[in-house]
Amino acid sequence: MIALFDSGYGGLTVLKPILKALPEYDYIYLGDSARVPYGNRSPEMIKKFTEEAVEYLFKRGAKVIIIACNAVSSVALRHVQQKYLKGADEHDRKILGVVIPMAEEVVKTTRNGRVGLIGTRATVNSKVYDKEIAKLCPPTRSIKLYSEATPLLVPLIEEDYHKEPEAITILKKYLRPLKSYNIDTLILGCTHYPLMLKAITRTMGKKVKVLQSGDLTAKSLKNYLVRHPEIESKLTKGKSLTILTTDDPSKFKTFTEKHFGMKIKMPEKVTL
Ligand code: DGL
Repeated sequence: MIALFDSGYGGLTVLKPILKALPEYDYIYLGDSARVPYGNRSPEMIKKFTEEAVEYLFKRGAKVIIIACNAVSSVALRHVQQKYLKGADEHDRKILGVVIPMAEEVVKTTRNGRVGLIGTRATVNSKVYDKEIAKLCPPTRSIKLYSEATPLLVPLIEEDYHKEPEAITILKKYLRPLKSYNIDTLILGCTHYPLMLKAITRTMGKKVKVLQSGDLTAKSLKNYLVRHPEIESKLTKGKSLTILTTDDPSKFKTFTEKHFGMKIKMPEKVTL
């Protein structure tokens, strides 16, 4: 089974392209809606919540866990990899994040080396995108990352308020500094933000290429499974999807069907 973990609905923007690219497997999606947003919390708290989620998903039979949430990938990925993939387990199961596939794409995409990032406070403060892009950037080039924390966007999206004029005003205010830096590439460093993609691309203009994690993570997972048959062979192929939430299942179902056009079974309510 392949599991995806996010603090709430956002990871569905990663799940959808993964289901399209790799439809044959069994999937489980966990959204910790009761504790969203994660992005304003301390690294210690994010690590603690992530441990709980990872332990739970492995207990439910996950063999690969995709940490869809950028805040979690930025702050807690290394921590849970070190804690849960020790010894024999290392060859038996995997935990993957969304930052590296994005960093690889940034290096391929930018022409002028001026790149913007919007994300939660946790993601921006971690500087993980700066570090991963610097590692991948060839010595003959330089890429400068301009980061803006945009902490109000996730609560607006989770409240289904993100298409209202007030939300668009807040978004435009957040993007204003990035527009002035003459960036040619913008990283949506949060799984929730593709839900505001239209307003973001309209505000940034045609010259800015807006990158989101979903398709990049799906491509990277597909390649990973080809390169690691020892993990791929452990995945069950039943084309099932189970959605788990720590909060109201009917709210989760309504939001998913409205914004993702996916018909889903009633999510299961779980306690981590
Ligand atoms: N969706 C998460 C991300 O990709 C963050 C949302 C939150 O703050 O919980 O960063």
